[in-house]
Amino acid sequence: MPKSIVLQDMANIGSNLNKAKSIIQSGGLVAIPTETVYGLGADALNPDAVASVFSTKNRPTFDPLITHISSIGQVDSYTLRWSNKAWALAKKFWPGPLTLLLPKSNSIPDLVTSGMEKVAVRIPKSELTLKLLNLLKSPLVAPSANPFGYVSPTNPKHVEDQLGNKIPYILDGGECEIGIESTIVGFDSEDNATVYRLGGLSVDDIKNEIGDVQITAHSTSNPQAPGMLKSHYSPKVKIKLGNIYAGLDKIKEIDQVGIISFMQPVQKVPPNHQVVLAPDGSLKTAAKNLFSALRYMDTINISTLLIEEVPDYGLGEAINDRLRRAAVK
Ligand code: TXA
Ligand code: MG
Repeated sequence: MPKSIVLQDMANIGSNLNKAKSIIQSGGLVAIPTETVYGLGADALNPDAVASVFSTKNRPTFDPLITHISSIGQVDSYTLRWSNKAWALAKKFWPGPLTLLLPKSNSIPDLVTSGMEKVAVRIPKSELTLKLLNLLKSPLVAPSANPFGYVSPTNPKHVEDQLGNKIPYILDGGECEIGIESTIVGFDSEDNATVYRLGGLSVDDIKNEIGDVQITAHSTSNPQAPGMLKSHYSPKVKIKLGNIYAGLDKIKEIDQVGIISFMQPVQKVPPNHQVVLAPDGSLKTAAKNLFSALRYMDTINISTLLIEEVPDYGLGEAINDRLRRAAVK
């Protein structure tokens, strides 16, 4: 953080784009809304600003950052070439919850990609953030705006709760429409596609566009995408993932239990210790509520959190991926 920026006690929350612009231009950090989760935005072409993103999040510098742009034409400035499949996906799904790994050009600082030769790029779908990007000359790096290893934020309050005393401004775009992070796709020299992180764009949607894809997002410590560590999205409470009723049978103190279920609440447990992710049975609704539910469970007095997986198709695959990582301690 440059000395010219005076930190306040708590971040302001608002929709003042000029304020956001001037903070970014002087090397500061602004939390930005996207359709997936809130990001911790900084000037991608300013290595000092990028460095302060890592330190503010307590994130190891071996875990690279996604570069956010506002138009497909800008990809040429920050990468060396397109792949055919990347182009097809970008045309179809941007702006949207899709991140592409492409060979980086020299204009992107090495710190952004943790020294790797590919840069992660995406166009987010948020009116405010797209307007901000259009006001700036640089793209924005933006990891999820949470301390490293914790659950991603899906509204301004989530950001304020954890980073409010470390950043000057949070751009308020309301609740995130999708609620889980973007799907990350990379391509080899023969243009075979690999999904490195399951996310807000389902694998089926990707396959419909470019045919078969490999998925390595399930691996535990994937060097291609170091952030996909097995233990991630972790609330503080101990999580048991599986059949809720079987889990409850083993627990004596029912008032010490929290429940996150897919469609139905559990009779025995007090309602204020439960979140039903999707009373309507929709995986979209479940994704949107997931991170708020995990955060809520950290605010109540429980010793065990029982969670059931959601149906394992479409967005459900990405939701279950988050749940499994959250359950690893
Ligand atoms: O939806 C999203 O993608 C959100 C919003 C704010 O855009 N951003 C986000 O960023 O989730 P972050 O930093 O929390 O997760 C990005 C992931 C990390 O796991 C990182 O390792 C991976 O993307 N990544 C970034 N650049 C990469 C690169 N050059 N090669 C491989 N993996 C990369
Ligand atoms: Mg993250």
